[in-house]
Amino acid sequence: MSKAKAALGERLFFEPRLSVTGRYSCSSCHDPARAFAQARPVAIGATGEALPHNAMALVNVAYNISFGWSRPRVRTLEAQMLEPMLNEHPVELGLKGREAAACALLAADPAYAADFAAAFPGDPAPVTLEHLVKAIASFERTLISGGSPFDRYVFNGEHDALSGQAKRGMALFFSTRAGCSGCHSGFNFSGNWRDAQGETGPASFARNGTSARPMRVPTLRNVALTAPYMHDGRLASLAAVLDHYSSVAAQAARTDRRLPRVAFSGAERSALIAFLESLTDESFVSRTR
Ligand code: HEC
Ligand code: HEC
Repeated sequence: MSKAKAALGERLFFEPRLSVTGRYSCSSCHDPARAFAQARPVAIGATGEALPHNAMALVNVAYNISFGWSRPRVRTLEAQMLEPMLNEHPVELGLKGREAAACALLAADPAYAADFAAAFPGDPAPVTLEHLVKAIASFERTLISGGSPFDRYVFNGEHDALSGQAKRGMALFFSTRAGCSGCHSGFNFSGNWRDAQGETGPASFARNGTSARPMRVPTLRNVALTAPYMHDGRLASLAAVLDHYSSVAAQAARTDRRLPRVAFSGAERSALIAFLESLTDESFVSRTR
């Protein structure tokens, strides 16, 4: 990590010349104003093809031990990035076969040439795909969010940072009655567990009734900004998410014993939503370009 690398990576994250059409970038699917998620159910690639999944928020991803909704073996940001860059079925950025041409284009741009030289000093030909990936990964590692009202309440002792309703929602979130924290756990409210071998543990993934196979338990930080929800964007709002968790409670065959056992009352739903909204970090979201 260096300031020069992260600054270069930030420019590249928004760089449309990294796509087959010259009009698409990482930020086309990862919108900074939405905690780097996207307002559509499933993402659409540069050439118009639909992806199977909803674009994930990029929040504290430096600490993830795996990446993607259902890919325990994708273990680094650098490895993850090759998917949007090079995937062909479906195309995301569509760089496959054009890697050298894209690098030549950037090397010919004096501003980029200078930025790459500053980020990778001593290298006579610094504009390479490997460096580009490393720079964007450095930028992603700066996407740290820890300034929400929840954080101010818990870590800074600001007793008024949360409303009474949000505090009731927080107690419910961490109760076995609601079960939420059994899956959405740790500082990122996500599934991020290693097994005894140090690999991504099975506890990082779960079935909550919205998919046939286990999905990674996503972070809930800034979740109020990242609708629609779930791996396929099927639920439009946090209210719809709580309807879903209430309805799984009523089902005899719950997919996971941590899921809620009883449907939520109206007051409980409002409290849980107030708590989820208290995970929004305005300082994180205002860091737009
Ligand atoms: C066409 C839309 C699209 C583009 C362009 C795109 N992404 Fe994504 N991104 C997604 C989707 C969809 C996912 C979820 C992938 C899955 O199915 O597991 C994702 C997941 C990720 C993740 C995993 C986050 C986590 O918590 O596991 C990272 C990191 C990421 N993208 C970074 C990038 C970077 C960097 C770029 C640019 C080089 C990029 N993305 C370009 C749609 C896109
Ligand atoms: C058994 C584990 C489990 C429990 C318990 C659980 N969740 Fe989840 N949650 C998940 C998984 C897995 C997903 C992603 C599923 C998918 O993408 O289809 C998810 C997704 C979500 C999402 C959508 C996030 C996004 O970015 O799309 C929200 C919001 C959410 N859960 C809130 C809660 C709340 C509130 C509770 C408690 C009432 C709860 N969860 C209980 C496993 C769980």
